[in-house]
Amino acid sequence: MGSYALRGPTVRRKIRGLLPALLVGVLGATATLVAPPAAHAAESTLGAAAAQSGRYFGTAIASGRLSDPTYTGIANREFNSVTAENEMKIDATEPQRGQFNFTAGDRVYNWAVQNGKQVRGHTLAWHSQQPGWMQNLSGSTLRQAMIDHINGVMRHYKGKIAQWDVVNEAFADGSTGARRDSNLQRTGNDWIEVAFRTARAADPAAKLCYNDYNVENWTWAKTQAMYAMVRDFKQRGVPIDCVGFQSHFNSGSPYHSNFRTTLQNFAALGVDVAITELDIQGAPASTYAAVTNDCLAVPRCLGITVWGVRDGDSWRPEHTPLLFNNDGSKKPAYTAVLNALNGGSTTPPAESGQIKGVASGRCLDVPGTSTTDGTQLHLWDCHSGTNQQWTYTAAGELRVYGNKCLDAAGTANGAKVQIYGCWGGDNQKWRLGSDGTIVGVQSGLCLDAAASGTANGTLIQLYSCSNGGNQRWTRT
Ligand code: G3I
Repeated sequence: MGSYALRGPTVRRKIRGLLPALLVGVLGATATLVAPPAAHAAESTLGAAAAQSGRYFGTAIASGRLSDPTYTGIANREFNSVTAENEMKIDATEPQRGQFNFTAGDRVYNWAVQNGKQVRGHTLAWHSQQPGWMQNLSGSTLRQAMIDHINGVMRHYKGKIAQWDVVNEAFADGSTGARRDSNLQRTGNDWIEVAFRTARAADPAAKLCYNDYNVENWTWAKTQAMYAMVRDFKQRGVPIDCVGFQSHFNSGSPYHSNFRTTLQNFAALGVDVAITELDIQGAPASTYAAVTNDCLAVPRCLGITVWGVRDGDSWRPEHTPLLFNNDGSKKPAYTAVLNALNGGSTTPPAESGQIKGVASGRCLDVPGTSTTDGTQLHLWDCHSGTNQQWTYTAAGELRVYGNKCLDAAGTANGAKVQIYGCWGGDNQKWRLGSDGTIVGVQSGLCLDAAASGTANGTLIQLYSCSNGGNQRWTRT
C-alpha cells in the first residue's frame, strides 16, 4: 500500500506539490512510498499521446478533402478532435437569411464522430465570412440576425459539440486594445455578451469559447484587452467557459515564451484555454515542442488543434507550417510534438490506480466491467481488473478504460455517480482533497458510499461533505 499510482507527466507536475499533504492526510504519517512501476510504452499517435493527460490533439478538416485517402488516413490515425475549417461558418450555414444549410458542416461532423472524434464548432459570430445578406445589415436588424443565427446553428448541433467558438476575432490588431470595427461591433459594445448568453441558452452542454489571434504574447495590447473582457465577463456572470488562442505564428507574429504565462493568467480567471488553429511558419520543431509544453503545463489547457493536416492543406501553404509533408510523411515538428505529449523521452506516461474507501477497504468498481454509459459505480473487493483502474487527468477527470469518466448524474444529495464517455463537463471533474475527499467540481459535493455502506455492491453517490470514512478515499 502507499503507492501513489495516479501518475502522468502533467498530473505528476500538478500533484507534486500536494503530495506531502495527501500522504499525511490520506495515508497517515506511517505510510511509505513504494517505487513506481515500470513506465508504459510511449503512445505513437498525437491523439493517443495527448489523451494520456486527458487532452485532445485535433486538426481542422476541410470537407472537400475528405475524398482524399492520404488526407483522411493521416487525419483519422493521428487526431481525436476535429474543427470544420470553413463549413460551420456563417456563410456556409445560413447562406440566405433564415435558410440554414448544414450539408457541408454535417459532412465534417459525421466524418469526425463516425471515426470517434470530438468536434469543436467554429464559428457563430464573426466579422468575416458573413453571407452577403448579413454584410448589408446593421443596427437592431443585424443584432437580431446574429441571435437567430446562433440559435439556428446551435439547435442543429445541440448536445453534439464539445466547444463552440461563439465569437471570433473581435479585437483590433495593433497597440490600441480596441474592439475591431465591424458591422457587429457597430450594433453596440454588448454584442459579444449577447452572443454568449444566447449560446448558453441554445446549448447548455457546449463549452463556450472566445477565439482570437495575436493574443498569445502576454505583453501585447490585444492580449490585455481580451484578458480584461474575460475578467469582466467572469465578474458579471456572462457565460464564458473557454478562450481559444488561434496561434498562427509567423515572422510578423512570432511565438514568444511568455505564451505559457498568457495561458496561465487566463486559466486563473476561471476559464479553460485551448490552442485552436496552430500553425508555425517553417514548422520549427523546437517551437512546436514549446507550444505543446505550454499547453501541458497548464491544467486548464484542454488541447491543441493544428490548422490543417499537410502543408498543402494549409491556408498558408507557402509557409509550410504544419506537421506533415504533402506526401503524407511526418516532419521533424511532428516528432517533437509527439515526444512532448509523451512527456519527453525520459518521462513515463500516465499510470492508473485503485481508489479505496477508507471505511470499507473496498474499491471504486464499475459493476461487471460494464462500459455502458450510465452504469452506477459501487464498492467491491479490490482486485487488479481494469474496472478498478482510475487515472486522474490534468483536466481533473477520473478516467477508467481510457475514455470513460467518473460522472455525476446530478448536483443534489443522492445524485448517482456513474461512468460516462468523457466530454469535458464540470460534472466529470473532481478535486482530490488533502483530507481524502473527492469533490465534484460542479456540485461541490463529496463522492460518498451510500448510507455509510461498506459491503460489496454499496452504491456510490454524491452527498454533502461530512468528513465520514465513507467519503474518504485512498489511491493505491
Ligand atoms: O470554396 C471556394 C471555391 O469554390 C472558390 O473557387 C475559391 C476561389 O477563391 O474560394 C473557395 O473558398 C475559399 C475557402 O477558404 C475554401 O477554400 C475562400 O475563398 C477563402 O477565403 C477561404 O479561406 C478560409 C479563411 O478562413 C477565410 O477567412 C480558409 O480556408 C480558412 O483556413 C481560414 O480560417 C481562419 C479561421 O476561420 C479563423 N482564424 C484565421 C484562419 C485563417 O485565416
